[in-house]
Amino acid sequence: MKHVPVLLSETIDSLQLKPGMNIVDCTLGDAGHSEAILEKISPDGKLLGIDLDPEAVLRAKQFLYNFGDRAILVRSNFANLQEIIAKNNFNPVHAIVMDLGWSTPQFEERGRGFSFLTDEPLDMRYGVGEMLKVQGEESTTAADIVNNYPEEELSKIFKQLGEENLSKEIAEAIVDYRKRRVSKDATRHDSAESSKKIETTGELVEIILETYRQKLKSDKEVPWVGGLHPATKVFQALRIETNHELENLKKVLPQAVDALAAGGRLAVITFHSLEDRIVKQYFQSIANKKIRLVNKKPIISTDAELKENARARSAKLRVVEKL
Ligand SMILES: C[S@@+](CC[C@H](N)C(=O)[O-])C[C@H]1O[C@@H](n2cnc3c(N)ncnc32)[C@H](O)[C@@H]1O
Repeated sequence: MKHVPVLLSETIDSLQLKPGMNIVDCTLGDAGHSEAILEKISPDGKLLGIDLDPEAVLRAKQFLYNFGDRAILVRSNFANLQEIIAKNNFNPVHAIVMDLGWSTPQFEERGRGFSFLTDEPLDMRYGVGEMLKVQGEESTTAADIVNNYPEEELSKIFKQLGEENLSKEIAEAIVDYRKRRVSKDATRHDSAESSKKIETTGELVEIILETYRQKLKSDKEVPWVGGLHPATKVFQALRIETNHELENLKKVLPQAVDALAAGGRLAVITFHSLEDRIVKQYFQSIANKKIRLVNKKPIISTDAELKENARARSAKLRVVEKL
């Protein structure tokens, strides 16, 4: 299923696009924002589109085929923004857009362990593509994290990156699971044993569900918590940790501001409070020195968009203008 771009018209309007401009989309995804940008900067404006996921870049190539060499697409981490702009001689930069997080096909179709609703290998790296067998910058998978991090570290990640209430209990249950021994060879009775590994999303989900069942004294297969599947927050935390999402965001923001031409605009769409706090605090720290805040409060989705797209619920758009 194609990704439905969030806050599309609000983002496009905020960038003040004109024909002939050079625009960078740091999070190409299914090219929803890129396509609308390319239309606005027609007939000769150019777009530099970046995505860490090789499959996203391949898909975007198809979606943007009609724009020919006005769309330059690069598989890379946006944390390398300055280098990517320099390598592609993409100057001056008139506007930059970032629409953070994951896209619908990554979540629903690729079998890469982002979803807790299907049983898949527990991977969660954006930068690794099955089709291209590209080894991404992130070599640690979510499975490596749950199988190797100490209990206190897991608990901290679930609390800080997922705001998970049962962070301690789930971390403890994971470590208990790891302590179980499995025989490597069922025909031998000696020490050919190893610790049990959590290799799939299904195994992790079951550990989380069992922790919730015990805590809530529930015998329901899925004891939903406040409208959320109990695995939602732990999965968010693991995705952020696996992909160093907050670190990448901290790295890209100053590079984006530096790369912009005077009067150029930067629009950032975030999906949870940790991301939004980083963006808000960074913009505040350079307000009236390097940039002007275009909107003091973040722009959120209209009721009409919320009805159509559940992902828009938590979206916040912040826009600044380079001085
Ligand atoms: C929400 S989607 C973008 C959707 C896109 N705006 C659209 O309308 O189709 C976010 C994209 O950012 C990519 N991404 C996440 N972190 C990245 C990073 N550090 N560098 C480059 N791309 C990244 C993901 O692979 C994903 O494709």
